[in-house]
Amino acid sequence: HRPLRLALLGCGTVGSEVVRQLRARHDDLAARIGAPLELAGIAVRRPELRRDVDVDPTLFTTDAAGLVGREDLDIVVEVMGGVEPARSLLLTAMSRGASVVTANKALLAEDGATIYEAADIYGVDVYFEAAVAGGIPLIRPLRESLAGDTVQRILGIVNGTTNYILTRMDEEGVTFADALAEATELGYAEADPSADLDGLDAAAKAAILASLAFHTRVTIGDVHREGIAGLSAAAVSAARDMGYVVKLLAICERTARGIGVRVHPAMIPRTHPLAGVRDAYNAVFVECDAAGQLMFYGRGAGGPPTASAVLGDIVAVGRNRVRGGIGTGESAYADLDVRPIGET
Ligand code: HSE
Repeated sequence: HRPLRLALLGCGTVGSEVVRQLRARHDDLAARIGAPLELAGIAVRRPELRRDVDVDPTLFTTDAAGLVGREDLDIVVEVMGGVEPARSLLLTAMSRGASVVTANKALLAEDGATIYEAADIYGVDVYFEAAVAGGIPLIRPLRESLAGDTVQRILGIVNGTTNYILTRMDEEGVTFADALAEATELGYAEADPSADLDGLDAAAKAAILASLAFHTRVTIGDVHREGIAGLSAAAVSAARDMGYVVKLLAICERTARGIGVRVHPAMIPRTHPLAGVRDAYNAVFVECDAAGQLMFYGRGAGGPPTASAVLGDIVAVGRNRVRGGIGTGESAYADLDVRPIGET
C-alpha cells in the first residue's frame, strides 16, 4: 500500500511525544496498519521553541490552514487543544478527505456534534481516545465494546493534575502552590492550569463520557462544576483525620429525571478503591445493566501515555484507510433530557 500521509497540528507535550513514538515504532506501525506512515507537516504556533524531536526542520510550519488544506493528507492528528482554530482546521481537513485523530476534549465537549456530523458527511473517521483519561483505553470500550449494553452510571477521577495535587497535599502536606508547580513540571497540567483547578478539564471529559455512555449529546455547559481551587490544606487534613480522602470526582448518571453530569470534590472513605488512585493516575468506574461494574485505571495525563492513545487511534484510522470502511457512529444519538444541575 502507498504510504499514508499524516499531518500533526500542535507539537507541545503530547505532540512531540507523538512524533517520537511515530519514529521509534515506524516499522511496527507500518506492519500493523499495512502501510507506512509519512509525516507531511507539523503546524506550530511558535516555531522558535526548542522541541526535543528528531525530524526534518522543514516539516514545521505556522500555516496550519495551508497544511490541512492540502488534498493529499490521509490523517490529521490534532493535539493543539482549544475550540478554535482547532474546529475550523479539522472541518477543513475532513472536507479534503482526511480522517481525524484528536485529543481535544475542549472542542469535543463544546461542539462535538459538528465534528461527528462532518465526519459522516465526508465519510471519514474521527477517533479521540486521547481526549479522556490519557493512556487508558476508555473511549473505544464505551463507543464499541459496551454499545450493546445500557450504562447507568460513570464515576471517575479524570483529571491527573488535581489528583496529583490532592495526593501530595494529603500524603506529604505539600502546599497547593508547590504541588501545582510539580504537576506542571511533570507535564500533567494544561497550558493554562486553571482549567484543571476549576474543574473545566474534568467537566469536558465528563461531557464526552456521558455523550458516549448514554448515546446522547451532553456539552460542557450541561455539567455542574466545582473545582479544587478553594480547597484548603486544613480541609484535606481534616478529611484525613476522619478516615477520608478528598478527590475531584466526575459523575455521569441516568436518573428518573434525565441525565445528570457533575464534577466536584468529594470525600471518599479510605477503604474505597478510588481512594487508592494516586498522583496523576485516573480511574473510571462504569456501571452497566448486563456487564455490571467495570473499572478502568491507568495514567490519565502526561506525554507518553497520552501519545500511546493517539498512536492507537492512528493505527485504527490507518487500517480503515487501507482496508476501506470507517468506524464512526456518534452522529446517531437519542435526544435525552440532560439536566444542567448538580443535585441528583
Ligand atoms: N491536564 C490534564 C490532566 C491532562 O491533568 O488530567 C490530561 O487530559
